[in-house]
Amino acid sequence: MSPKISVVILAAGLGTRMRSNKAKVLHHAGGLTLVEHVVRAACRIADPVDVVTVVGHQADQVRSTLVGYGVRFAVQTAQNGTGHAVMMCRELLAATPGWVVILYGDCPLLQAETIARLIERQKQSSAAATVITTVLADATGYGRILRDESGNVRAIVEQKAATPEQLAIREINSGIYCFRAELLWEHIAELQPNPASGEWYLTDLVEILRSHGHAVAPMVLEDSSELLGINTRVDLAEVDRIFRDRKARELMLSGVTIERPETVAIDAAVEIGMDTVIEPNCRILGRTRIGRDCRIGAGSIIRDSVLGDGVLVDAYTLVGASTVESDVHLGPFSRLRQDNHIERGAHVGNFVELKKTRLGAKSKSMHLAYLGDATIGPGCNIGAGTITCNYDGTAKHATRIGPGSFVGSNATLVAPLEIGEGSYIAAGSVITDPVPEDALALGRARQTVKPGWPSKRKAAAKPKQPA
Ligand code: UD1
Ligand code: MG
Repeated sequence: MSPKISVVILAAGLGTRMRSNKAKVLHHAGGLTLVEHVVRAACRIADPVDVVTVVGHQADQVRSTLVGYGVRFAVQTAQNGTGHAVMMCRELLAATPGWVVILYGDCPLLQAETIARLIERQKQSSAAATVITTVLADATGYGRILRDESGNVRAIVEQKAATPEQLAIREINSGIYCFRAELLWEHIAELQPNPASGEWYLTDLVEILRSHGHAVAPMVLEDSSELLGINTRVDLAEVDRIFRDRKARELMLSGVTIERPETVAIDAAVEIGMDTVIEPNCRILGRTRIGRDCRIGAGSIIRDSVLGDGVLVDAYTLVGASTVESDVHLGPFSRLRQDNHIERGAHVGNFVELKKTRLGAKSKSMHLAYLGDATIGPGCNIGAGTITCNYDGTAKHATRIGPGSFVGSNATLVAPLEIGEGSYIAAGSVITDPVPEDALALGRARQTVKPGWPSKRKAAAKPKQPA
């Protein structure tokens, strides 16, 4: 077998300091669970089948979160330390020659480019392993790097075991390594449980490798922000902010205008075309794709949707799991719930709610309507206050409105219902029966006018003159 890159992701721990019933790696930042960020980076540098995630705490939930990525899993039933966790992968990976990268599931900011640099560095050195280190102003809690005369890593000493002189060292172990696979799997069994904690520390492998005559090299990262691990929800908020910042920068550099980017949340997988403008306080989430020359108004939330080019989304509009073709105008204050399709040039205005509805090209529903389970042809006008009564208390029913129809204000369309092409529905009608094409349907009481009625009423109410 030719040499390969394998990746081990340690994600078995609970994360007590999160104070949560949920495993730490399942918390979200930047729109994805922490472990997904790490898996995505890993899958950019290795084949998914060569990525092994070590699961333990809430193993089933972690597995199901990662099911779409095609990675493999090793189970660590008791969390006996980082060395023990890596041992759990031996069966799956020991036969694969090449290099093994170790990553942490709670360290989601690390970028694939940095991992690739680590691998390159290791490939070009004769060392048994390369470890990413960085220098921190406050190194409390981290393992400290002890160097030898030649600048290689002599040992890694954990905070609890460090002497006062060692505690003064500010170069820390990131916990991210690239090992020569053969040497890792050959020597990992030599780890002994730490006498104080009873855990197997992966960091002890440095001294074991050295005792066999192998070197461990450091790779110092100048910018330590990628190594920020998450322990508490304060860290989670900070990491989320960094992800939002990164995504906004990436989009701005690719030609998207973002006003007040610090107020905007855009998920990692979102794509936005050139010259689109994102106003403040927007959230653009999930797998959303937005075309060119669009404007997304302040306070709008768009999730898992596809928008064409030149779409204008006015302020405070919600769009979920919908398709919006080019040159559509939505909002302000529109709500597109799931599974809508708005065809080219259509206009959905304020306080219009749509669900499972197709609105034809250049059709308009400008104000105050509910359109559910409806198929509306092109060139229709849906008046203010139109309601599709799609639910009879038991089942949902469809409404079909033919091309070029005109639905007057405050129409109540009781589904199932079919309105033929080019028809008119009179304002205020309750329509329960099919309307053929080219017809006017009225479904309301006829107006009666009584001339002089108010004066007669007044006269009748006048007190009688005394006789
Ligand atoms: C570890 C390093 C320390 C380094 C620090 C960087 C060791 C002994 N120490 O310490 O030198 O500075 O990371 O953040 O390696 N995990 C498992 N199974 C276990 C234990 C841990 O999967 O049995 C996972 C955790 O879920 C986590 C990662 O390994 O993702 C790191 O474990 P953690 O307990 O946070 O190690 P640290 O004490 O921070
Ligand atoms: Mg930690």
